[in-house]
Amino acid sequence: QKVEHYEIASYGTIAALAKQLGYKDALPLLLETLQEEKATDEKLTILAKSGGNAKAVQAA
Ligand SMILES: [Fe+2]
Repeated sequence: QKVEHYEIASYGTIAALAKQLGYKDALPLLLETLQEEKATDEKLTILAKSGGNAKAVQAA
């Protein structure tokens, strides 16, 4: 999940730069990827709150 947060920060920054620099072709894909990273982060939050991490530790 830490990696997802780095990815969200990175894609958010790159998307903002692309917008400011007028890179209109790149912007939609960057924003789409940013949304995918946010969705993954939300899924990992749900997993962590459901006790999934504790179950994984017990299984290891
Ligand atoms: Fe990711």
